[in-house]
Amino acid sequence: MRMHDTDDHFDDYLDDNPFGGRRSRPRKPKQSEAARSFEGDFDQESTRAGRLTEAERARLAAVRESALAGPVLPPGADRWTTWDDGEQGPHPRPDWLVTELAAADTELGVLKSGKEADVHLIRRAVPDTDRGCVMAAKRYRSNEHRMFHRDSGYLEGRRMRRSREMRAIANRTSFGRNLIAEQWAVAEFAALSRLWSIGVPVPYPVQRSGTELLMEFLGSSDGEAAPRLAELRPDADELVELWHQLVAALELLAGEGMTHGDLSAYNVLVHKGQVMLIDLPQIVDVVANPRGREFLARDVSNVMNWFRARGLPDRLADPDTVTGELLAAAGLD
Ligand SMILES: Nc1ncnc2c1ncn2[C@@H]1O[C@H](COP(=O)(O)OP(=O)(O)OP(=O)(O)O)[C@@H](O)[C@H]1O
Ligand SMILES: [Mg+2]
Repeated sequence: MRMHDTDDHFDDYLDDNPFGGRRSRPRKPKQSEAARSFEGDFDQESTRAGRLTEAERARLAAVRESALAGPVLPPGADRWTTWDDGEQGPHPRPDWLVTELAAADTELGVLKSGKEADVHLIRRAVPDTDRGCVMAAKRYRSNEHRMFHRDSGYLEGRRMRRSREMRAIANRTSFGRNLIAEQWAVAEFAALSRLWSIGVPVPYPVQRSGTELLMEFLGSSDGEAAPRLAELRPDADELVELWHQLVAALELLAGEGMTHGDLSAYNVLVHKGQVMLIDLPQIVDVVANPRGREFLARDVSNVMNWFRARGLPDRLADPDTVTGELLAAAGLD
């Protein structure tokens, strides 16, 4: 009688489901009778496919679909929180961070569209509460415009576990390009996590899933991003102050044996008077990388040139001195 047990269970299930229909069917006869008239019982709805009728299949499919879709998203929201989907940011976690799994994400617009990534503004909030935060979502692209030379240098030093992945990357299939994009997101998330943990002024890395990196939004509460250093025209005192802040940040990095690797006045934001480093996927290990010193010197001269052009006094603006100090901090005299 196993078959009928299962069938009874299925009846219970249908009685609960919102797609109805089952109650209008005639009651199933008692077991003995059912055993005798098995075919007749199930043939009451004409189109049969295996044990379930077509109508039952359709109802079941609809129930499954709605169970997968889960509860209806709050109005305006674009997805449920992805907090549980990937790597999460370091401890201690900031108070503003929304980790509740009942939260939903809403796209607020594009902050910047770049060659390698697009940065969006998103809001994560718990419906019907005042819990919410705004974050920057950096989404790495997997298109042909990416700088492949940077990828090959970057990928050389890292282990790729599956040769299928290595082949896909080498052949630049769309799967391979997506893997490269994801590796960049992984690398930037790791760099931000490490630097944030030792107190380097970088946005808090909230999480990384796939090719998307979520981080603290640096900007005003109405969604205006903090300006890039390149956009500012600081007065003499502010200029010196910003320079000291930047050198202090680079010293912290150098103390870890690192340099930014792509530092410029475009990859430094000034948030509430504080210099913040961004765009860090290519961070360079000055000690392990054979061209480490060169990268560090280039980072210094890039930002130094900007400060000099804005009038930073010569006594501060000597690239050799600054580079030498940073190399010493990295243990490379
Ligand atoms: N955490 C953040 N808060 C506010 N704005 C941000 C944040 N991260 C990035 N942005 C904005 O997005 C821009 C691009 O970010 P980022 O430099 O990381 O990406 P990118 O793809 O390398 O861009 P680009 O090619 O222009 O350097 C930044 O210049 C800045 O204006
Ligand atoms: Mg950038």
